[in-house]
Amino acid sequence: MLHLRILLDARTISPAPMSSLPAPSADARAHSERVAAHIRSEIARAGGWIGFARFMELALYAPGLGYYMAGARKLGAEGDFTTAPELGALYGHALARAAAEALAMAGDEILEIGAGTGALAASLLEELERLGRLPRRYLIVELSPELRARSRDTLAARVPHLMERVAWLNGLPPAVSGFVIGNEVLDAMPVQVVRTTAGGIEEAGVAVGSREAFEWAYRPAAGEVARAARALDLPEGYTTEIGLVAGAFIATLARTIERGVALFVDYGFPRREYYHPQRRRGTLMCHYRHRAHDDPFFLPGLQDITAHVDFTAVAESARAAGADVLGYTTQAQLLVNCGLTDVIARVPAEDAKRYLPLAAAANKLTSPSEMGELFKAIAFGRGVPDGLAAFRSGDRRQAL
Ligand SMILES: C[S@@+](CC[C@H](N)C(=O)[O-])C[C@H]1O[C@@H](n2cnc3c(N)ncnc32)[C@H](O)[C@@H]1O
Repeated sequence: MLHLRILLDARTISPAPMSSLPAPSADARAHSERVAAHIRSEIARAGGWIGFARFMELALYAPGLGYYMAGARKLGAEGDFTTAPELGALYGHALARAAAEALAMAGDEILEIGAGTGALAASLLEELERLGRLPRRYLIVELSPELRARSRDTLAARVPHLMERVAWLNGLPPAVSGFVIGNEVLDAMPVQVVRTTAGGIEEAGVAVGSREAFEWAYRPAAGEVARAARALDLPEGYTTEIGLVAGAFIATLARTIERGVALFVDYGFPRREYYHPQRRRGTLMCHYRHRAHDDPFFLPGLQDITAHVDFTAVAESARAAGADVLGYTTQAQLLVNCGLTDVIARVPAEDAKRYLPLAAAANKLTSPSEMGELFKAIAFGRGVPDGLAAFRSGDRRQAL
């Protein structure tokens, strides 16, 4: 998600003050109150405390209520944030080279996880058709009913003649061969939050305080959360997130890949950088109408909640499931390796109406001060040789 998030991560500017966030409509506020009531009832049933990951799961994905599960518009100018595929077809047209390579080596299916509005799917299919490398099937796993419907509309408008190849699944298929892609999906998975104190590691959870407001509440960390946090060897007085849900998801996905390449692009770092002693407040971030702030309890159900991705954890989960890690690099390098400049060069610079938006998108996608460096790409897979063209130059696997 573009915008303040990138700058905020570097902590070069402060989050939007809560008082400056736009007020929701009466209907939206009523919806948020229903979401909050649902979460409060679960907290009550659980004895007064739920872990933050469960809060995040409910706020984003409670059926019919959560941010991604109810009607509000999320992506794009009228929504809360913008992603790389939403900047235009350029991103997908370039990534199609990575898809084509995987399809040539490993099978004839594409599986997209969290396809959002379908913008990336449409761009990939357009370009794969141009390259003569269309997949037999383009499968989409998307939790959000609103976004599933939007992606159907996008594809029907942009690639109507390819619709019969596209299918929406309710969960991961039992097996897949070819190319798997997930853009900004891992950051949307619930995270556990932990903090270190003189007394040991605590898991942050959510309780209900005065006037029914959500508040942070801490318990000694136990089980898998404690084990994962201990392994990070964090300094005292440190708060951060642990992506156990994303890790489990990657492991399951890696097992379903019979032969092929999975490519995930997201904002994040290798572990050493993620849990750097100076990043003492973690990376939890919320987005509401293109403003970024750090209060996950603000208007539950109306705002996105995310955390950066620990790419070392992604690599470990993939390897533990028997997959090979095939590359890790920045988004800028990935796109250059995938022939971004050739895609741009197809439009003559004199055709300003088409060229200028393309150049602006390319700048956003690759500039180190925009998405180019903070966003990373990781590839893992099974049954394919090392040396993918998408990681030909600038592969940083050794940093994981
Ligand atoms: C930040 S949006 C990104 C959408 C799109 N990929 C893009 O880049 O514009 C995250 C998407 O991931 C979806 N999502 C989150 N967890 C998922 C899961 N476990 N399976 C499938 N989709 C998921 C959400 O519903 C949402 O559409």
